[in-house]
Amino acid sequence: MVYIKDLKNQIDQEVEIKAWVTNFRSSGKITFWQLRDGTGFVQAILSTHDLSKNKWAKSQKVTLETSVKIKALVSKHPQKDEYELQVKDFEYYQIAVEYPISKKEHGIDFLMDNRHLWLRSKKQWAIQRIRDTLIRANYEFMYLNQFIKIDSPILTPSACEGTTELFELDYFDDKAYLSQSGQLYLEAAIYSHNRVFDFGPVFRAEKSKTRRHLSEFWMMDAEMAFINLDDNLKIQEELIRFMVTKVLENNKEELIILDRDIKILKNITKPFYKITYLEAIKELQTLGSDIKEGEDLGGDDETLLTKKYDNLIFITHYLAKIKSFYMKRDESDKYAFCADLLAPEGYGEIVGGSQREDDYDILLNRIKEYNLPLADFQWYLDLRKYGSIPHGGFGLGLERVVAWVCGLKHLRETIPFPRTINRIKP
Ligand code: 4AD
Ligand code: MG
Repeated sequence: MVYIKDLKNQIDQEVEIKAWVTNFRSSGKITFWQLRDGTGFVQAILSTHDLSKNKWAKSQKVTLETSVKIKALVSKHPQKDEYELQVKDFEYYQIAVEYPISKKEHGIDFLMDNRHLWLRSKKQWAIQRIRDTLIRANYEFMYLNQFIKIDSPILTPSACEGTTELFELDYFDDKAYLSQSGQLYLEAAIYSHNRVFDFGPVFRAEKSKTRRHLSEFWMMDAEMAFINLDDNLKIQEELIRFMVTKVLENNKEELIILDRDIKILKNITKPFYKITYLEAIKELQTLGSDIKEGEDLGGDDETLLTKKYDNLIFITHYLAKIKSFYMKRDESDKYAFCADLLAPEGYGEIVGGSQREDDYDILLNRIKEYNLPLADFQWYLDLRKYGSIPHGGFGLGLERVVAWVCGLKHLRETIPFPRTINRIKP
């Protein structure tokens, strides 16, 4: 058996292909089948010359998504890198019953209800292939840069990123929460391994309907010992550059299917922009936002701001009180040593990171200030007692990166089976 992607090595050979029929049309003595086998797409030609009367009659029973095994001769387009199959024989695995997704436009609810089938469409195929490249590139980069993968727990006793978006569940006689980020656990692991990362699903009970939020999404947390904020941003910049470059190299066909304008993606080789939170507020005000100093950037602000830029932007030194408890602050105690990385073209935040507070007493007071249950954070405070060090890290939201790289408006198409406030099916 040969995969469609390998047909280029089989010119003028007879091959066996196993695939699905994504479209078909007939013109008297010739029938065209568009085939998909997961590795690529190809056209097969069936003709009354090559097939017995019986087989020809059978071939006319084809429907959308029918599964087939064919024997065919491979030919190449005289000018283009396109291949065609001249069918000599075929068998059906199954003649599909009426496929609900047709070539006509469907509403998003219908498509989401049929997500298990919609995943087969060309655009969805292209998105998941790019997602896969990004995941692989992420791992590859981490291993090239001395990171060890540490698996953080999914069932946790406390919140990492604030208590308002926690999924709570019964844990025997107690309560537990689904993890929002593995960060705190990775902080423990750096004392053993120096540089660590995790990659897995995290959960946030996002109560609003936005195009940027899922209630289950995949995060890569990275944590590093003996670094400062500049070191942290440098590694993020290199990581994102590495990941996007891999997509540009390996997913040319997919980017064409998605009709993605790759001009801005190619700017990835240039240095990212860097502005402070205060500068961002001023810039937003001149752009017409009603945001005030002291407020966090909303989704609309991020869209407004990032439309102006032709590359990624770090926004650093946010007002500490709008950020998480674990962030280290500057001498004024007002601003955090942190940064959000925003993707251009209106996309907004794809990575959030910071320097972590490494002083026992300051962190203890902070936990109290944020009204967090002290008993649950005793182990985390311990890390500041035994060889405390300057350290920091970041969390990359995979679906946000996929959305930007693929040029998708909404996060719901970036993950195979999205979970949002109003969807947990299929
Ligand atoms: O900015 P966040 O909340 O940072 C953390 O969780 C840190 N503990 C990470 C760390 O330092 N190790 O989340 C990190 C990233 C965001 O930048 C965003 O890309 C993504 O996770 N994200 C979401 N993606 C999809 N749906 C949501 N509801 C998301 N919330 C955050
Ligand atoms: Mg964030």
